[in-house]
Amino acid sequence: MNRAELSPSLMCADVFELRETLRVFGQCGVEYLHIDVMDGVFVPNFCLGTDFCRQLRAETSIPLDVHLMITEPEKKLAAFPIGAGDLVSVHLESADRIDGALTAIRARGAKAFLALNPDTPVDAILPHLPLLDGVLLMTVYPGFAGQTMTPDSLDRIARLRALLDRCGRPEVRIEVDGNVNYEKAPLMRAAGADLFVSGSSGVFRRGDLRENIAAMRALLQ
Ligand code: DX5
Ligand code: ZN
Repeated sequence: MNRAELSPSLMCADVFELRETLRVFGQCGVEYLHIDVMDGVFVPNFCLGTDFCRQLRAETSIPLDVHLMITEPEKKLAAFPIGAGDLVSVHLESADRIDGALTAIRARGAKAFLALNPDTPVDAILPHLPLLDGVLLMTVYPGFAGQTMTPDSLDRIARLRALLDRCGRPEVRIEVDGNVNYEKAPLMRAAGADLFVSGSSGVFRRGDLRENIAAMRALLQ
């Protein structure tokens, strides 16, 4: 099984504390910074963007995990400061030319992930599998933090893991996003997920940030 890694969701961070939060993430060896980009069209909300990514770049060397919840991502990728080591997800439901978007991400040296909404069958990834480094499985409907996991999420993770193994691609990662809390994260791990977006019920829940990160890591061994 791939190593379990953390990607805290910065839409859940306190903006007034962000510099200190990034410092703690660096000290704790957090692997990615999850950045939710929303355009108010693909999802009914607005969130984070290119300038935010650029400012993060200047402040930290932690790789970016850019989750694009926007229409026509293939036309907008060039505006994002992504490069080697970063990870970018585009939604299968958001683009007609999904392979073009995945190819453009790889051309920048970044890892290409395909994101699936809860209602999209997991085998919809198959035509795109040769271009994939990972799959981002939404475990809530995209757009808002603080929701409850959709009921068939664990089953979807297990089915996707089995599908990837059957296709001879066990190294393709499964990222889970939405309601990844202390109770559900170990179940998601057991089902086959290996990259954990951690938001309002994970590392950003009440309490000490360092302790929350350590607790999540201990649960994901
Ligand atoms: C929702 C976003 C998530 C969100 C997760 O559309 O993609 O990254 O921040 O937040 P929680 O963990 O609170 O569900
Ligand atoms: Zn996200």
